Amino acid sequence: MVVLSGSNAEIMAKQLAGELNWSHFSIETRRFPDTEGYIRIPDEVIESIRTEPVVLVSNTFPDSGIIETLLMLEAINDVRTGNLQNLREIGPQSLTDVGPGVLLAIPYFGYSRQDKRFRPGEAVSARAIANLLASRCDGIIVFDLHAPKVLEGLSVPVAFTSAMPELAEHLQKDIKPDFILSPDKGAIERASEVANEIGCQFSYLEKTRIDAHTIVHKAKDLDVEGKVVAIVDDMIATGGTICRAADALRSQGATQVHAACSHGLFTGGAVARLVRYVDGVHATSSLANPRDVIPGGPALARGVKQLFTTLQW
Ligand code: R5P
Repeated sequence: MVVLSGSNAEIMAKQLAGELNWSHFSIETRRFPDTEGYIRIPDEVIESIRTEPVVLVSNTFPDSGIIETLLMLEAINDVRTGNLQNLREIGPQSLTDVGPGVLLAIPYFGYSRQDKRFRPGEAVSARAIANLLASRCDGIIVFDLHAPKVLEGLSVPVAFTSAMPELAEHLQKDIKPDFILSPDKGAIERASEVANEIGCQFSYLEKTRIDAHTIVHKAKDLDVEGKVVAIVDDMIATGGTICRAADALRSQGATQVHAACSHGLFTGGAVARLVRYVDGVHATSSLANPRDVIPGGPALARGVKQLFTTLQW
């Protein structure tokens, strides 16, 4: 197997290749002065892509990542189906079709939070993008997706994988938490898995989001007096969710508060804001970020192996 990546997921791609002992190659990516993207599979990689199945590791974030992922899938499919036709007739113009064998591994699935129509007239963005991607590959691996339900019934098999085991291992080694908190109902499954792995107390908050920057939590008594607490979420964007939850924990006597997530988006100065509220911020390598301390490769490798058990080729 061959692992490929473009401009936005090289760390994860290399970790995946290392985990599975496969070769990793980079696809050339550039940007034209008008910001449009350009991708090209290097000559020396074409033969490997035709000889073995491939896993392309690519984020659909930011928006340019969606285009780049689609273009890379297009080029990989052309190489595998033997469509090498070009206007200048350089090299072979057609080769045999080597059959299915293109998997897409998405460390951070952008638009995952628009997983339903919250108001009439909205697009279900996560589904729209998933359909586009599914039309160009034979299977998808998604890493800690916000709400997996949105990818149910896609035209290709999907493997959901999670870094919660590695996140738990990291927290236990680094901070030895007494208590894990889910900052909203949506993260209960993930955070309770971490609490179970560590063998510590668990609870959750009920959150209402007023707008992108304003959230409120329903008051709740938490048994955190004198305890080290880690808040576990799928992603940290503005940091608002974590800062408010940290306020609640401090006011109830927590001695240390840490924030841990799979996806460190850290938008608009989030890290600078977070360090005023928490003692530590811990994220995986799904996105390039300054708090990347938890490897994402093992989870991605589990996802690839899981998908292989369902594929016919
Ligand atoms: C939402 O339900 C997610 O799980 C996160 O809690 C949320 O996206 C975090 O966003 P922010 O850091 O902007 O509060």
